[in-house]
Amino acid sequence: MEIIRAKHMGFCFGVAGAIDICQKVINDKNNYNRNIYILGMLVHNEHVVKKLEEQGFKTVKEEEILQGKDNLNKNDIVIIRAHGTSEKIFEILKEKQVEIYDATCVFVTHIRKTLVEMEKKGYDILFIGDKNHPEVKGIISFGKNVTVCNDLEELLKVEIDKNKKYCLLTQTTLNKKKLEKIKSYLENNFQNVKILDKICGATQVRQEAVEELAKKVDMLIVIGGKTSSNTKKLYDISSNFNPNTYLIQDENDLNIEWFRGMNKIGITAGASTPEEIVIKIENQIRGIH
Ligand code: F3S
Repeated sequence: MEIIRAKHMGFCFGVAGAIDICQKVINDKNNYNRNIYILGMLVHNEHVVKKLEEQGFKTVKEEEILQGKDNLNKNDIVIIRAHGTSEKIFEILKEKQVEIYDATCVFVTHIRKTLVEMEKKGYDILFIGDKNHPEVKGIISFGKNVTVCNDLEELLKVEIDKNKKYCLLTQTTLNKKKLEKIKSYLENNFQNVKILDKICGATQVRQEAVEELAKKVDMLIVIGGKTSSNTKKLYDISSNFNPNTYLIQDENDLNIEWFRGMNKIGITAGASTPEEIVIKIENQIRGIH
């Protein structure tokens, strides 16, 4: 039995950067007696979030802030998660005079800025992504006229006016193949849509690596949080090429039955999955055989 890791997997620099900000804030002596909150899940991995809570971080949800049901006070610290948040939340936090540390990944911030600039230039925005994902909700909140579609099927239902100009933007973790289908539909039918591919580099290399690996192993284990968009995409891509693909959060989700007759085991992990979880899983798999 052989365990083969994907060439690119695990923490991306956006997640690593957000965790780094948290550590700097909590280790700063000036903050010892202050309440330190993280907005929602800092990253989409329960193990990471649990560890931060054990260090003393509290969580405040966007809904609580929007409904005035939070316990935030002046001078508390709020760290904005890697996927960012909405314009409204930034406004309320400023009004409350809390100290904001913005751990939004630079890729997400860049899309947000592009959206605002393109609207100023007169473009209507078409956005491809999951409208329920915090990243998408946050980004589009900075726009005025944004149409969000999850995939080509949804986009086909959108009436695109050939006399207007449009800009197409994407969620950072979008599946590259999904975008290619959308691109070819638009390029073949509309000359008035400017396509700006915003899939982040970390997502892209992880998706390519899992595809390559899924084709050459007997089974593939994808490790990551249940709410992690990029983890789900890795699972979908691998499943397309290898029916023996399993998505797990940690070693407790492993099922001994999966491994019967399997020799080459591929492993990948979402961008917010810590290395220590991956190692625990690898050790457990070695124990099975
Ligand atoms: Fe940023 Fe891409 Fe990671 S958007 S948080 S580098 S998955």
